[in-house]
Formats: sequence, structure tokens, C-alpha cells
Amino acid sequence: MSETFQVVIIGGGPGGYVCAIRSSQLGFKTACIESKNTLGGTCLNVGCIPSKSLLNLSENFNKVKKNFSNLGITTGKVTLNLSKMMKAKKKSVTVLTKGIEFLFKKNKITYIKGQASFKSNNEIIVQEKNSKKIYKANRIIISTGSVPTSLPGIKIDEKIIVSSTGALSFDKVPKELVIIGGGYIGLEMGSIWKRLGSNVTVIEFLDHIVTGMDKDISIEFLKILKKQEINFKLNSKVTAVSLVKGKAVVDYTSNKTNVREKIHADKVLVAVGRKPNTEGLNLKKMSIKCDNQGRIQVDNKFQTSIKNIYAIGDVIKGPMLAHKAEEEGIAVAEIIAGQSGHVNYNIIPGVIYTSPEVASVGKTEQQLINENIKYKIGKFPFMANSRAKVINETEGFVKILADEKTDKLLGVHIVGPYAGDMIAEMVLAMEFGASSEDIARTCHAHPTYSEAIKEAALAVDKRPIHS
Ligand code: NAI
Repeated sequence: MSETFQVVIIGGGPGGYVCAIRSSQLGFKTACIESKNTLGGTCLNVGCIPSKSLLNLSENFNKVKKNFSNLGITTGKVTLNLSKMMKAKKKSVTVLTKGIEFLFKKNKITYIKGQASFKSNNEIIVQEKNSKKIYKANRIIISTGSVPTSLPGIKIDEKIIVSSTGALSFDKVPKELVIIGGGYIGLEMGSIWKRLGSNVTVIEFLDHIVTGMDKDISIEFLKILKKQEINFKLNSKVTAVSLVKGKAVVDYTSNKTNVREKIHADKVLVAVGRKPNTEGLNLKKMSIKCDNQGRIQVDNKFQTSIKNIYAIGDVIKGPMLAHKAEEEGIAVAEIIAGQSGHVNYNIIPGVIYTSPEVASVGKTEQQLINENIKYKIGKFPFMANSRAKVINETEGFVKILADEKTDKLLGVHIVGPYAGDMIAEMVLAMEFGASSEDIARTCHAHPTYSEAIKEAALAVDKRPIHS
């Protein structure tokens, strides 16, 4: 007889595993089905975590090699042991994925290994190797994440033409690395391999990088990355990638001049976005509706077109971010329990973990203009922040956008040291409906990078102290 659960979650990534823990906390008999060998999904296995490990390790390598001697620290010859670095990355991943297994045990969640597909609206078939089992569930939550997309005619082989997964595991530093797409993935992966010795060229379709970010930030960020000697071909469309004698030839056309050019590469990273991962779930047979981008349609309670089936994370609309999926995982479990689970989509931070980091929350200046909202701006450069000066990390600035009349914070954008952690202060402030004056009057420890936030808030009212 098949086992019955109150809640079954398909997918053990940040959305799914967090949802499983919250469901169990709320007293539901919960199971989580995962097809890969480890829990944690893209984020822990081939995304956020391994990339942050390599970003940190490559940054250390770069610092020791380039900066230490000027600071009175003499080392011997600094060399790279890539396989050791990859081992360190793998260890970080293993510790964290095993950590989720531990949390599942602690929370008495049944961990089912295998590939899930719908048999009916409350039966799921799970296939693992040669065995097939059916599980019953009152409520089912789809949290199957996303997979990389490619361009027409360009086939990712994970050897020469790679997605982020392949680019996290090169066994040799590619001499020439071409990256298609100047978004989150392209710029993080480009930074890693540039620091480790590749000549990196990013080809981006638009005339700016990180589309959707505040324009000032995008301009400053590009300047900084160019200084780090990453090459950019903006306003350029990649049309084909061919393989010749184990190397790649990338064809691209300038959007401005229509001139066709070629660039040779040892590896090509395709980083042009991701798409919902719904293959094999049997959604069509179940009549679960998707939109024209393949995202599962849900209402404001995460309910699909079938009442007891829900969806969260990258398979539904919204930014494809682990922390957005986690919030949705918690909210949907609480909604199922009759509570008022809720996600504030206006205040979801975005972070790019380059050096320096880029972080953003709320509206960009362009969005405010488009929405005809009157605003004030406060900006403060890290060049005038004492901590940044001492540590010699003075690139970038904080930009605060506040409502012209009420002074309420509308958006905060940072390019600069530890921006990814510093943005938390402003996320919280915005959740509490703070004004820029509230931030300006809050005591910030000295000397810290966070004083740049206070100064930017003061600058909204044209009264910064240090600039
Ligand atoms: P993206 O959507 O951020 O950027 C893709 C870029 O490719 C765009 O700028 C687009 O204009 C460009 N592009 C598309 N077609 C092109 C062509 N033919 N030639 C040249 N350029 C072209 O996608 P990305 O970087 O692949 O990231 C996927 C998702 O993963 C994003 O939603 C992101 O939020 C998430 N992610 C988040 C991270 C973080 O939070 N730090 C890190 C990595 C990924």
C-alpha cells in the first residue's frame, strides 16, 4: 500500500527544503522528493554555494598575488593549485548538503530519493533506478527550480560550451574564456576565472550590464570590472558557436553597425538566463496551467490551477533567487496551515558577489521615473568612508532613493565592499517603512562601511558630513 503524507514537496532546493521544515514545524506529516543524489538543489550543489566558495578562494589568490607585496607582506612565489581549490569548494558543498539531511532527520521529514511525476492530483510516482513507488498526499508543492537556457543552435556540452555548472568545475584555467551574457552568472563566473588567470571576454546583447539594476550602479560596476581587465563587447548579439579542433569560435554581430565578428575561445560560458524545470512532472496531463514562459501559474496563495497542488520558487514568476524561493516555501506552508503566510515582493534584495559586491533593494531610479513617482536622491562614495580608505577598498557608492514628500525609502543600491551584507540593514528599514531621516539619525559604529549608508541618507537631505 502506498504511504500517505499530509504535505509532499517535489524538489529539495532552498524553496523545497525550507518548505518541508516549516511544514513539519506546523505539525504536518511531510515528505520531500529529490531526484539528485544530494539535497540543496541548484543553490547548494551547482549555484550560490560553490560559486561563492570559488569567488572567495579566487579573491584570496588574487589579493596575495597582486596586493600583498605593496602592503609589506612578502610571500614566496604564489601559485595556483586548482584541483585543491576545487576540493575545498566540494567540501563546502558537502558540509552544507549533509546539513540539510541532518535538518530533515531532526524535523522528522521523510526524504524520498527519485524522480517524481504526477499520477493524479494526490498521487505521485517516484522512480529511482529500477524501482517505482507511489506516494499519496493531501497537498503537493512543486519546487523543482530552474535549468540553464541556451541560444538557438548553441548546444551546451558542459565540456567546451558550458553552463554555470561546467564553469564551476573546469579542471584547467582556460586561456581564453568567452562569456555570453553580462548578467549575474556571467559576471560572477567571469570574475572567478579572470582572477585565476583567464583572459575573459563578456559579450552582452544590451548596451549595459546587469539588466534591471539601477543605471548608475550598472555604469559604475562596468567601470570597475573593466579596470579589473575583463573585456566587454556590449550591444552585441551572439549568433553561433562552432567547435573547431577542440576549441570554440564565437560569432557575434554588433547591434549598432551590423558588423559580424569572431572570437576564439578555449571555453564558452552560456549565461543567458534560466528556465523553469518542469519536464517529466506530467503537468500537461494534469492540466496544470503554465504561462508563455513555461512558468507554473499560481494565485496569491501559490495555488496552481489544481486546488491542492501548489508551486513556489523558480518554477513560478518573480526573480530566480534562492531567498525568494525560501520565503515562498515558508509562506505556502503557513497558508496550508490556515495562517497568513506572505511574501513582500517589493523588498527582495539582489546581490552580485563580485569584488566589490553589488546589492540592491526596492525600486531603481528608472522604475520611479517610469511610474511617475517623485523622489529625492542621496549618494555617498566609499572613497569618503574611513574604513574603506584604511582597507583600500574605496570603489563604489551607496545610492538611496526616498519619496520626495514623505521621505519614505523607495530603493537602495550599493556597489562597494560587503554590499551584500550591508543591504540587510536597508531591507529591514524598508520592511518597517522607514524614512531616510530614520537612517540618518541612527547611530552607525565607526569606523565601518555601514557609515556610508548613514551618510547617503544624510545626503538625501543634502547634509552629509564627510563629503
Ligand atoms: P541574467 O538574466 O541575469 O542575464 C542574462 C544576460 O544575457 C542578459 O543581460 C541578456 O541581455 C544577455 N543575453 C541574452 N541573449 C544574448 C545573446 N544572444 N548575446 C549576448 N547576450 C545575450 O541571466 P543569468 O546570468 O544566466 O542568471 C540566471 C538567473 O540566476 C538569474 O535570474 C539570476 O537572478 C540567478 N542568479 C543569481 C545569482 C545571485 O543571486 N548572486 C547568481 C547567479 C544566478
